[in-house]
Amino acid sequence: MSDARQSDERVASADVAQEIERLRAEIRRHEYAYFVEGQPLISDQEFDALFERLKSLEAQYPELVSSDSPTHRVGSDLSAEFPEVEHTVPVLSLDKAYSFQELVAFITRTSREADKPPLYVAEEKLDGVSIVLYYREGRLERAVTRGNGYVGNDVTANVRTIRTVPLRLERPHTVAVRGEIVLPKDRFNELNRRFGNAYANPRNLAAGTLRRVKSREVAQVPLEMFAYEGYFEQSPYPSHTRTLAELRTCGFRLNPRLGVFSDDGGVSEEVERMLPNAVTGGRAEMERFVEEVTRERDRLPHEIDGIVVKIDDLGLREALGYTGHHPRWAIAYKFESPAGITKVRSVDVQVGRTGRVTPVARVEPVAIAGTTVSNVTLHNQDYVEMLELSIGDTVSVSRRGDVIPAVERVVEKNEAGLSVWQMPEHCPSCHTKLERLGAHHFCTNYRCPDRMRQQLFFFVGRGQMDIEHLGPETLQFLIDRGMVREIPDIYEVDYRSLVQYEGFGERKVGLLAESVEESKSRPFRTVLASLGIPELGPRICELLIEAGFRSIDDLFRAADRDDVASLAAIPGIGEKMAADILAELRKDSLRQIVERLRRHELRFTEAEHDASASSATEGPFTGQTWCVTGSFEHFKPRSKAMEAVRAGGGRTVNDVSSAVTHLLAGANAGSKLRKAQRLGLKIVSEEEFVELLKRVSTD
Ligand code: IVH
Repeated sequence: MSDARQSDERVASADVAQEIERLRAEIRRHEYAYFVEGQPLISDQEFDALFERLKSLEAQYPELVSSDSPTHRVGSDLSAEFPEVEHTVPVLSLDKAYSFQELVAFITRTSREADKPPLYVAEEKLDGVSIVLYYREGRLERAVTRGNGYVGNDVTANVRTIRTVPLRLERPHTVAVRGEIVLPKDRFNELNRRFGNAYANPRNLAAGTLRRVKSREVAQVPLEMFAYEGYFEQSPYPSHTRTLAELRTCGFRLNPRLGVFSDDGGVSEEVERMLPNAVTGGRAEMERFVEEVTRERDRLPHEIDGIVVKIDDLGLREALGYTGHHPRWAIAYKFESPAGITKVRSVDVQVGRTGRVTPVARVEPVAIAGTTVSNVTLHNQDYVEMLELSIGDTVSVSRRGDVIPAVERVVEKNEAGLSVWQMPEHCPSCHTKLERLGAHHFCTNYRCPDRMRQQLFFFVGRGQMDIEHLGPETLQFLIDRGMVREIPDIYEVDYRSLVQYEGFGERKVGLLAESVEESKSRPFRTVLASLGIPELGPRICELLIEAGFRSIDDLFRAADRDDVASLAAIPGIGEKMAADILAELRKDSLRQIVERLRRHELRFTEAEHDASASSATEGPFTGQTWCVTGSFEHFKPRSKAMEAVRAGGGRTVNDVSSAVTHLLAGANAGSKLRKAQRLGLKIVSEEEFVELLKRVSTD
């Protein structure tokens, strides 16, 4: 009997395997038609149905799942690390021409090496991220960034999510394909708005996306890939045009606009047959092609920064050879020489008031939009890696509006072969080991001298302690003389003694002393937010105080107990932020500062009248914390129920913890209900809740 069943199963899975393969091939064909050719053969619904069928079969038969299945573009939550890997083909850059004459000079120079006028292929120079895709026997094995040309980062997991990257080729080639990963302009504008306009251009957003740690996030950004060079292991094709045609057959999308030209105008019928969309002709047509692309540049769906002209014949390419930097058989005609091109002399790190450490590039002074720029922020290590920037590199720097100058890209790698700049391990000011939190590095020493200096300026400033007569110049004066190093020093200086210095009259020092004295009456919430504790800005301080942490000692106690749950229960404070805040509050360096400030009678407790002024309305739910889960008949969406709790003076939170007093459980309440039962919380049904509300309104 058991034998019979076994053989049944074998038959079934052979069938299933066949169906799966058929579906995959079908889906690949439709993806190609849709994404590459832009001509869908079936409706979206039909496509989705095929896709769903494949997904469900793969879910039932996990042994038949393969990494090159079209279902594998969704990405994963697993951390994609970017190990460095060596390129097996040289990933060179391009020589540049800034005028049509220079382009003609290139053609004259290279034609001389040939017996008859050679063919040139002209392609738009897409402005994105350069990528090399390595295929073995038709399967995508690796996707590697350009890096320094010899070693790049392995970003395979992320590149797999891009729909125009074939995971499996139509033919079993072993080939390295070079191409550009780009983000269309309209999608860039849409997304960048969502990212707070943080990216200077689509290229940087594409590069930043490729370096996301979770490939699932990459899958959500509509990146596209265009292929422009192929290095086939076996049976290399004799020409670039033939190579491009083969790449297209394999499922790649080619650079959108192609031209094939020869000085005698002779372009073979074979080329026209292989690349039917290409513009062809002689020198005049080529000039027109360049003019047209230049003119239409701003209207194209993708950013381009020039036109690449390449020799077609691969034999002639070999004869012309290479320099260490670029092939002699190709040139990039660039639309314009960008204004802000300069060289990175060094990279310094600056410690900010929250301890955040920011790399700053010191560049050779360059005039951009009317000002001379010599310092350019590099934001953080991720940004440096996205740019693949090293000291000595030539970079393009932009200044958009009032925005601080930013490095947009590396235009030329340094010749010494220096690798990508790395954040030092220790704080340049106090030598504490730096810690990485998300994209940024921090000096965690609250009393770090550089950090303290930034904190001092922040502490006295408007919006914080607002010490009117202790402006930046006076503060700098005190810092320079060693009279003020840390915040409490402000309250220990003998201001009257300053009259011995020039510029400090009786009246001035009087006002100074008075405004310092007066600042001692600022409420707790202001003092707390002025201390420059990471995460504790005015809004979060407000939330903590409203939630009942009414003194610094309340907060210190929560920190000592590591009571993450209580803080995380406050709407607006997540679990991670809660843990970070508590870690800050545990630091000795902070506690010492607080102790000294206490001695000067700054306020570390919220006065009662401050609280009632801003507390929520009184109501039947005052003092209660509710969590709402499940689905409801009378409250759709369920946020309506949460609003009702808040209108009745209660607080609402998203997660069940011991800080919660009531769980409102609708239909199909799952894990939250179980957790609430475990914690012994009061559980309220929808019916009971409706009754409660009715009773209140009739009261
Ligand atoms: S050919 C050895 N063709 O431009 C051949 N490059 O400045 C080198 N690019 O890193 C590249 N479109 O990222 C080539 N049609 C195209 C291109 C192109 C964009 C980029 C590519 C390369 C950079 C060189």
